Amino acid sequence: MKAGHCSAAALRERQTTMSINIQLTEGLIASTAEKTEAANKLLADIARNFSPATFANSLGAEDMVLTDLIVNAKLNIEIFSLDTGRLPLETYDLMAQVKSHYGLKLKIFTPRHKLLEPYVRENGINAFYESVELRKACCHARKVEPLQRALESKKAWITGMRAQQSATRDGLPVRSYDEGNGLEKFNPLADWSEKEVWAYIKQHAVPYNALHDKFYPSIGCAPCTRSVTPGEDVRSGRWWWENPESKECGLHVKAK
Ligand code: ADX
Ligand code: SF4
Repeated sequence: MKAGHCSAAALRERQTTMSINIQLTEGLIASTAEKTEAANKLLADIARNFSPATFANSLGAEDMVLTDLIVNAKLNIEIFSLDTGRLPLETYDLMAQVKSHYGLKLKIFTPRHKLLEPYVRENGINAFYESVELRKACCHARKVEPLQRALESKKAWITGMRAQQSATRDGLPVRSYDEGNGLEKFNPLADWSEKEVWAYIKQHAVPYNALHDKFYPSIGCAPCTRSVTPGEDVRSGRWWWENPESKECGLHVKAK
């Protein structure tokens, strides 16, 4: 299949079912258990063979599954979050809940004022709505540069990305070499469905972002995220005014 062309089944799988309300069928419980075992194995392997490794935690549903797995197995993997300064209140509330629930102190990275202040002064506080270039520049100052510092001197990083999240993530591998940042990159949930993510969250009573209950399947910065209706693509509420092809913030550069 040519890049950018998808089967009807692949398109359907990208459409959110707002899975918070899913039924835990036998089949779903079995597939989630199987994938959980594989993810546990992979995470243990990363902790053993790619130390120091770090996990990029956006506090989204997938990342809460990974947090639960890493903390419960007491793996030697650092967990960090990028606080862009524009996150929704619900995400900050969940950061606090992660501390009370797991006793976990997230390593927080914030934007460099030397990058952000000139950008805001020159372009305005909400300039990201004006063009893809200005949006990407904001993402660079608030996310990409802090990410580079978070990954400094690490051997591997871990994300919660799934292949079914969007057209830009079709064929997402579990492991790849991140050339831009110069280290291994692992996506342990690459082949998980949205339903399996929510099955895990339900079964293990994992804390999650309150916005997921308000039709936000994918959550980023507050001004760049809105709610969606069931049947829309999982990431259709992100940068909704842009084309689907441009909807990556620069954290994840596809290997060519
Ligand atoms: S993205 O375009 O914002 O990167 P998405 O929200 O789907 O997309 O996140 C994909 C993965 O990128 C997350 O599972 C997480 O690993 C990482 N990530 C995204 N935002 C952050 C953040 N603010 N802090 C830490 N990691 C993040
Ligand atoms: Fe800026 Fe929006 Fe990117 Fe957040 S998601 S860094 S507010 S452009």
